[in-house]
Amino acid sequence: MAETIKDLLNGNVSWVKNTLKRDPEFFNKLSMGQSPNFLWVGCADSRVPATEITDALPGSIFVQRNIANMVIHTDSNLLSVVNYAVKVLKVKHIIVCGHYGCGGVQAAMSNQNFGFLDNWLMHIKDVYRLHQDELDGIQDEQKRFDRYVELNVLEQVGNLAKVSFIQEEWEEGEFPQIHGWVYSLKDGLLKDLDISMNSNAKLDNVYRYNKP
Ligand code: CO
Repeated sequence: MAETIKDLLNGNVSWVKNTLKRDPEFFNKLSMGQSPNFLWVGCADSRVPATEITDALPGSIFVQRNIANMVIHTDSNLLSVVNYAVKVLKVKHIIVCGHYGCGGVQAAMSNQNFGFLDNWLMHIKDVYRLHQDELDGIQDEQKRFDRYVELNVLEQVGNLAKVSFIQEEWEEGEFPQIHGWVYSLKDGLLKDLDISMNSNAKLDNVYRYNKP
């Protein structure tokens, strides 16, 4: 585990050596440009790095991460990343990846005051309110927490589907497809929630945009 700044810089040097051993042209090729097929919207948690857990090389995944993998329609950072990925890179798949044991979701589930962070956590609390009947019905606290993580991914997939410039892409064809996954810190495996969307058909009418 890297602990110091020196560890990181030394790690970089050995990573370059190993990478060149595997593919002497690796950096030459990547320096020409990127054309990833995937956009990843994940949690900022240090244990859930997109490329490592999917065994994907640099160049494969365009990445946006924040606390609890949220898609918030006033977040111009996230929306700019999504816009570039969809309109310029033309990614085929967008993956919203949550993870069990997410500290952000756990914090949102509690009644503790986290100061400034509460404003971000508010959006996760809104997810609880939307699914209150189901979540309150789960007696086991661990199971309720796990389900809350899954429902949060479901809502963020829906939030991406509500973005007008994504609906614009769907008028042209089947891409991008939006997927919802959950990662398990305990065994390292990803679970596909099978909730993928590539049309606005399942959205409430108020969120559907007319074709221009
Ligand atoms: Co998290």
